[in-house]
Amino acid sequence: MDIQEKHFIRQQMKAKRKLIADRDQKTNLVTGRVLRTKAWQQSKQVGIYAAIEGEVQTEALIQAAYEQHKRVALPKIAADRSMQFLQMNKNSLMKRNRYGIEEPCDSQVLTFEAIDLLVIPGLCFAKNGDRLGYGGGYYDRYLKETKGIKMGLAFNEMMLEELPREETDIRMDLIVTDQHEYWS
Ligand SMILES: Nc1ncnc2c1ncn2[C@@H]1O[C@H](COP(=O)(O)OP(=O)(O)O)[C@@H](O)[C@H]1O
Ligand SMILES: [Mg+2]
Repeated sequence: MDIQEKHFIRQQMKAKRKLIADRDQKTNLVTGRVLRTKAWQQSKQVGIYAAIEGEVQTEALIQAAYEQHKRVALPKIAADRSMQFLQMNKNSLMKRNRYGIEEPCDSQVLTFEAIDLLVIPGLCFAKNGDRLGYGGGYYDRYLKETKGIKMGLAFNEMMLEELPREETDIRMDLIVTDQHEYWS
């Protein structure tokens, strides 16, 4: 069964992720690669995740987006398990949600059409663009509606040959790691 297989892979990969060395250095490498992609350079309105421990960190990207005068939006979840991206500025207030993820307190919702690039977290990814999250399905539900480029960020250790996929799983267009870019 796919769902049990996902559960098993999540357990394995969470353990594996804890062992990754030089995360800050690798985050810098991912950041540099992202900044050099055409997708980033051409984007005017980016949706970017606020990272939790273990994920590729995104402060530098968020900062770069402000400096490059892009419109920046961060995700915020709701009780009905939906998610929206809210437009931010350098002074926007943030608050931790129930998963411990920083999110905007209150600001303007950016519509699906407005965002041209989404920078997406994941527990692990496959080289064909498949993504495994933590099991909430938030990004799958959100990304179904978006037309922006879907860019996943990962440490190279978190790339697998393949992942089990369900009909509702949304594939990334591009995954950037500290070593490669994988286009699907
Ligand atoms: N578009 C959708 N509509 C309804 N349910 C969805 C949708 N996308 C995902 N889900 C549900 O969300 C749950 C978690 O999805 P899953 O892919 O396992 O999590 P994640 O993507 O976070 O790893 C699953 O039960 C899945 O069926
Ligand atoms: Mg999924």
